[in-house]
Amino acid sequence: MYRSHSCGELRESHIDTAVTLSGWVAKTRDKGFVVWVDLRDRYGITQLVFDADRTSAALLEQARNLGREFVIQVKGTVIERASKNANIPTGNIEVLVEDLKVLNESKTPPFTIENDTDGGEDLRMKYRYLDIRRNPVKNNLIFRSKVTMEVRKYLSEQGFIEVETPYLIKSTPEGARDFVVPSRMNEGQFYALPQSPQTFKQLLMVGGLDKYFQIVKCFRDEDLRADRQPEFTQIDCEMAFVEQEDILNAFEGLTKHLLKEIKGIDSTSFPRMTYDEAMAKYGNDKPDIRFGMDFCPLTPKGGTFGFNVFDNAALVVGITVAGCASYTRKQIDALTDWVRRPQIGANGLVWIKYTEDKTFSSSVNKFFDEAYLAHFSKQMNAKPGDLMLVMAGETNKVRAQLSALRMELASRLGLRNANEFAPLWVVDFPLLELDEETGHYHAMHHPFTSPKPGQLELLDSDPGAVRANAYDLVLNGNEIGGGSIRIHNKETQSIMFKHLGFTPEEAKAQFGFLMDAFQYGAPPHGGIAFGLDRLVAILGGQETIRDFIAFPKNNSGRDVMIDAPAPIDKEQLKELNLKLDL
Ligand code: AMO
Repeated sequence: MYRSHSCGELRESHIDTAVTLSGWVAKTRDKGFVVWVDLRDRYGITQLVFDADRTSAALLEQARNLGREFVIQVKGTVIERASKNANIPTGNIEVLVEDLKVLNESKTPPFTIENDTDGGEDLRMKYRYLDIRRNPVKNNLIFRSKVTMEVRKYLSEQGFIEVETPYLIKSTPEGARDFVVPSRMNEGQFYALPQSPQTFKQLLMVGGLDKYFQIVKCFRDEDLRADRQPEFTQIDCEMAFVEQEDILNAFEGLTKHLLKEIKGIDSTSFPRMTYDEAMAKYGNDKPDIRFGMDFCPLTPKGGTFGFNVFDNAALVVGITVAGCASYTRKQIDALTDWVRRPQIGANGLVWIKYTEDKTFSSSVNKFFDEAYLAHFSKQMNAKPGDLMLVMAGETNKVRAQLSALRMELASRLGLRNANEFAPLWVVDFPLLELDEETGHYHAMHHPFTSPKPGQLELLDSDPGAVRANAYDLVLNGNEIGGGSIRIHNKETQSIMFKHLGFTPEEAKAQFGFLMDAFQYGAPPHGGIAFGLDRLVAILGGQETIRDFIAFPKNNSGRDVMIDAPAPIDKEQLKELNLKLDL
């Protein structure tokens, strides 16, 4: 038996008990006649003591020779600790060691295995298994497991069944590039890894399974960000005989359950906002509603502003930053520089201060007198002491730029409280989105999303105006889930493919199986998928999903621990009939 107890388990009630513990040497302190060792495992740390009075000289010497991260087994007796440590649950006791066995030695680890490690990101990724020994990473993985278990519990109690769908499939367009896998047995042919199990879950509805879920890996070859990984996990769900309202209710239920079980938070009904409202009010389809700073469009007093920058703009819009009229010129210049960075790309920032003594000062004093600035401050609901920040230009660009500034200010002002959870549904997304580069429309959610009833006809005359039965669940400014009511008949699906630029032949070759299935009694259906990594990170009060994934990829899509991707040898290439001109 390797152990009778874990390293996090022993308390005063165990005093005088004989115990066997196994774990890693976290720290050794050698005071000459006494050696203390902190023994660590997943459950905690227990202090071991070896001393000249009570243990043999040989044992003391053995303890002295232990290196960091050695794996050891000890037998001993639990005793009361002379100087107690209130910071750890086992801090009142220690184990007086009678026998020590080294189970495995360790090289000196390349960084300290402590909460605040000296190891940089790259090094920790290369030795991820050592990083996982540290509490912050370990606790995130335990937290993830807890969330996953609660998801399974809740959905199965609601009658959902978990079904696995294949990974070696044909492209399912979710807007990213596919990862492909060459087929040895079918020369020159490739599987695509699923960007999501979208078509399969729809086929399960045709198959009559009624309520499906799956905690499933998805693969998307896209540029990485803090909230994106090339392989990530979805809580993928689908239901038959449902309307949008049924889906929103069912998955609001799941989210409420998680907030309650994981965070102890009771939530009321989630607010809903249309896509158009979200864009107008926050410049963003995933607004963070934990704080205000709503967008306020500015209009001129008379016919024009008399200020070219505003008069030539499609949109003049601002936010009011409460209590920041005291910002110095330097602070405002820093914000202006921030929005001018290429990542944001704004031309500039107009500021108006409404000072505590109810006077105005601004960067546009030349163009607007006090009365005009007062007019703006009314439009922006500003109070004395507030700072107004205004941007002008092309509608979509200005919205994106001001939205980025709003989020940045909220972070700087500490308004993004990680312990506050503000979910909301964004509904009525456009069905199609214009790709400005190619001039073509593509599906905003995916090609299987149904237009709102009665809007199919609009597809020909005004495609951009068609709204879909598509929705996103947003939590603290992050899109944590998205879904839609699906098309379930062949004709409508064919019309959609046509508008997305597929010839009938292409549509048949790529999605014939789905259109065939629609001819055999496909029920009305719809669903949603949550990004599990994102959900877990946000519930855990963070936004970087990498910290909640055991073995994530770095920003170049590499696993630096196993060194993948990597070239394959000539034999393997030959077997796969792949010819690489390198
Ligand atoms: P969608 O593409 O919106 O919908 O994806 C659903 C959710 O998955 C998460 N997500 C990601 N998480 C981490 N890294 C990524 N690269 C990544 N991409 C997406 C997001 C997102 O909200 N089949 C549809 C769902 C449906 O219609 O039912 C789909 O995949 O949190």
